[in-house]
Amino acid sequence: MKTKIAVLTGGGDCPGLNGAIKWVTKTALDPRLAKERSIQFEVIGIREGWKGLVDVDPDDPKSRKRHIMPLNEEVVRAWDRYGGTNLGTSRTNPFNPQNDRSNKLLENIEKLKIDVIVAIGGEDTLGVAYKLHKLGIKTIGIPKTIDLDLVGTDYSLGFDSAVNVITEEIDRLRTTAGSHNRIFVVETMGRHAGWLALNGGECSGAYIILIPEYPFDVEHVCELLLERTGREVQYSIVVVSEGAKLCGKEEIYKDDKLDDFGHRSLGGIAQYVADVITKRTGFEARYVILSHLQRGGVPSSRDRLMARWFGIAAVDMILSDDFGRMVSYLHGEIASVPLKEIIDKLKLVDVNKYYDTERYNGRRSIL
Ligand code: F6P
Repeated sequence: MKTKIAVLTGGGDCPGLNGAIKWVTKTALDPRLAKERSIQFEVIGIREGWKGLVDVDPDDPKSRKRHIMPLNEEVVRAWDRYGGTNLGTSRTNPFNPQNDRSNKLLENIEKLKIDVIVAIGGEDTLGVAYKLHKLGIKTIGIPKTIDLDLVGTDYSLGFDSAVNVITEEIDRLRTTAGSHNRIFVVETMGRHAGWLALNGGECSGAYIILIPEYPFDVEHVCELLLERTGREVQYSIVVVSEGAKLCGKEEIYKDDKLDDFGHRSLGGIAQYVADVITKRTGFEARYVILSHLQRGGVPSSRDRLMARWFGIAAVDMILSDDFGRMVSYLHGEIASVPLKEIIDKLKLVDVNKYYDTERYNGRRSIL
């Protein structure tokens, strides 16, 4: 009897997911490795994350075809070159108290004879994996989020590619900003963590970087911009994280809607900051919301490499019966941490260590 591994991707898509799916599949089915193992594997992909595993009707072949994709080395051969997720994704929470479908999930796992689930996702997706683990299902997590806010790992898939997008787009903005002597306010994603804005701003040499972890005074932003008056180059780039807050104020949300995990969509702070800059400084300001561009495109080399290592490590963990854990990258090594330790927490920017609160920018002293 083969051990059946089900792989799924949940939450926001990003480059690196396909690589992780490929390397779970390739490592599990590698014929050379198989000869040395006491157990043999079968790998299936679940389409659209937890939604696929809840919606599938295991007794109906059409439904199985719609929600389940058998994976083999030939199918996944070129996947690591492509962004997004070829399995599809969703933000479905089977344990949502308003619509609890966890019994259906458990029933389907049993009917489909799934032995192990490898869930690739962020805190929400891995939170579901942890709940299943507590209910006796063998689960393993692979960290993915451009927000880099997962605790227990120094890296999560998608982050590097997203920082590259921010850097490239800001490089592009500089030419038009310079031609018109304008201020450009660039809004990044990242939810309540400032990693994307901070690293993206640092890589692109932004003059001001505003992050959620340090509420900002918009008057100070204007003062910093006015300090540059008279210099030869008369444009500036301000990077603002979607979750950044004005001192004493709440974040700006797009609307009141809550997703299945209780999150609201952030967005709009760049427009506010650009308007205030125009009014208070007399400089012409424009804003750009990078939005989902940050999750698009092909994976960077770092995301390809980490996807490969994470995928291989997930199979190593299955072979050593190491369940209820997330693959992680800690202090330059691949490791793993219990899912229990990573849920309901966020890894935020340590302002004292990484942020210059005077200049609203990255640190200027490192050692
Ligand atoms: O968590 C990843 C992320 O891209 C956040 O940075 C962003 O706030 C959110 O997802 C956007 O979600 P959606 O794709 O549902 O609009």
